[in-house]
Amino acid sequence: MAADKKLQILLTFAEKITREKDLHKLLSLLSDVARDILDVDRCSLFLADPENKILWTIVAHGVERIEIPWDKGIVGWTFQHGKSLIVNDAYSDYRFEKSIDKKTGYRTRNILAVPLLNRKGEVIGVFQAINKLYGNFSEEDEDMLTLLSGYAASAIENTNLYAELNDAYKETVLKLSHAAEYKDKETRNHILRTGLYAKVVGRELGFDDDEINILFLATQMHDIGKIGIPDRILLKPGKLTEEERKIMEKHTIIGFNILKGSKSRLLQIAALIALEHHEKFDGTGYPYGKKGEEISIYGRIAAAVDVFDALISKRPYKPAWQKEKVIKLLEEEAGTHFDPRIAEIVIRKADELFEIKESLPDENEEKEAD
Ligand code: C2E
Ligand code: SIN
Ligand code: SIN
Ligand code: FE
Ligand code: FE
Repeated sequence: MAADKKLQILLTFAEKITREKDLHKLLSLLSDVARDILDVDRCSLFLADPENKILWTIVAHGVERIEIPWDKGIVGWTFQHGKSLIVNDAYSDYRFEKSIDKKTGYRTRNILAVPLLNRKGEVIGVFQAINKLYGNFSEEDEDMLTLLSGYAASAIENTNLYAELNDAYKETVLKLSHAAEYKDKETRNHILRTGLYAKVVGRELGFDDDEINILFLATQMHDIGKIGIPDRILLKPGKLTEEERKIMEKHTIIGFNILKGSKSRLLQIAALIALEHHEKFDGTGYPYGKKGEEISIYGRIAAAVDVFDALISKRPYKPAWQKEKVIKLLEEEAGTHFDPRIAEIVIRKADELFEIKESLPDENEEKEAD
């Protein structure tokens, strides 16, 4: 394409860009411009999702959202190396990820990929052009796409989209954890403690740092569903009637419904924990009577640390139990209520867990001697 034609497209674009407040439309526009200027079949704008370690298409011509592990494919290579890449015969390049074509039924011939850099020079995504209509990609194409990717990156930074995506899940955790807490003040530190105990258990099970962090945050949301339980039941000072108990048990499903359906792995696991933390290893728990490894490892961990903390704490309906009595219950219920492997860890690590409890007591316990 002639330079003047390119300039014309850019000017038209520049005029639109200043008026376009909607980021998504703006990025679509930018992809259209890239396609027209480069004479390619389609363009995709991938953004990194650091939590899930994927690149996903915020904009893609002619296909549904594509997700790719952030170290896979031409796109992943460009993201990892922060360098542009021209591949003129995709299928003979070892980096090319054929599975995407397989899924979309598309035939990729050649690819130009350039990194999306923020102001600090960090790579936040990849701009990709696929299938040049005539001939191969040139250095001039590369320069042009690099220029356009600069527009895209600054548009994204200006609307703060990237920071929002990045922080959204952390914020969600905090908000949600505290939403349940405000109704049930006595369990304020219970929320944090269960997360801390779960961390200890995860470490003993050999979880890696990422998994431990997810476990720590997700476990803290286990009772989020209590927000849907009426105060007269939730805050009742005495024993629950059978009918009240049935309502109380719904906090598992309510929590699951609040948290489910997210793309975030953290929230997916949190949803599972909310659903499963009252299931029992022998299948006698609720809401579904799941048994053994039908209950996720996260659910089994949360079940054990939740009960551990409930027992060593004072509740409106029960006093705090002594350590020996708690250990005895864990031993007795290993294999029935609890996954025996997890019960063993909680027993073995009981001193460390008691220290956590002592450093984060409940409000109603702070002034009491034990
Ligand atoms: P929670 O108080 O945090 O207790 C969590 C879980 O710890 C309980 O799940 C149960 O498995 C275990 N647990 C708590 N206290 C005892 C105990 O004295 N003995 C034994 N063996 N296990 C205990 P569960 O039973 O499904 O209860 C779920 C939630 O329902 C409780 O959370 C609490 O908020 C509420 N709840 C249960 N029973 C009563 C009750 O009698 N009165 C009131 N007001 N609330 C209750
Ligand atoms: C790749 O990057 O290897 C393929 C990506 C795509 O087909 O969009
Ligand atoms: C419950 O919500 O079921 C009880 C308390 C807890 O799980 O912490
Ligand atoms: Fe619960
Ligand atoms: Fe709990």
